[in-house]
Amino acid sequence: MKSAQPIGFFDSGLGGLSMLAYARHHLPNEHFLYLGDSANAPYGIKSDTEVLELTKSAVAQLVDLGIKALVVACNTATGIAINALRAQYDFPIIGLEPALKYANDTHKDGLILVLATPLTLESAKYAALYEKHGQRARSLPCPGLMDFVENEDLDSQELHHYLNDLFEPYQNIKIDSVVLGCTHYVFLRHAMAQHLPAGTRLLDSNEGVTRQLIRKLDEFNLRSDSTEKGGLSLLSTAGAEKAEQMHRMIKKVQSVLGLS
Ligand code: DGL
Repeated sequence: MKSAQPIGFFDSGLGGLSMLAYARHHLPNEHFLYLGDSANAPYGIKSDTEVLELTKSAVAQLVDLGIKALVVACNTATGIAINALRAQYDFPIIGLEPALKYANDTHKDGLILVLATPLTLESAKYAALYEKHGQRARSLPCPGLMDFVENEDLDSQELHHYLNDLFEPYQNIKIDSVVLGCTHYVFLRHAMAQHLPAGTRLLDSNEGVTRQLIRKLDEFNLRSDSTEKGGLSLLSTAGAEKAEQMHRMIKKVQSVLGLS
């Protein structure tokens, strides 16, 4: 039965675990299969062609393992590869983009800062999003920021120096929200909040993507009808040690997101 097959999640590394944790919480009876391409991360400073090829090859591995649907839990890979993937496969494929539309639609007062990888911010997909919803936004490329998360560093002095340099120019400007346009940055919510005025919204795409995933599973009649808790397999192109780290990191991000 197709509905009993796992839902695949893909990211360049550990970042997509933040989205996986959220989706699992809301779909407890589904099986999940996560592949992180940490051996080839970071994607965000590579060329379009490299990211396209790496994404296609990682997704092919998930397809061989029998997934029924796919979440590309990576803004960078979505921006570059989502159209090619949808043209190649006929199961539901959910991608993500920085939550700029939501930030703008619910904006009250002040600036919206969009944090993402250089490649995401250079993509045509982001240019179209910014053109429509970016009137109050400023885009901040964050090369190197995902590496802290890959190294399981969510609170070091070096990380705080990075964040201090990033937010310092906006110290005297009112910020309405910070859009976390890379799934790795969701791990850094607590660290970032220490550099921002109280009340600044930190917006990720978890809720929207999970809602879309549920909608697509229903539309394709793929929802699991099991009443048992679903399984979880975490795979990494960087080997078993990295996969172990993923188990630790999923617990950390559950705590960051306040999930049980
Ligand atoms: N986690 C990824 C994203 O959402 C990208 C990180 C990277 O590989 O540079 O964009």
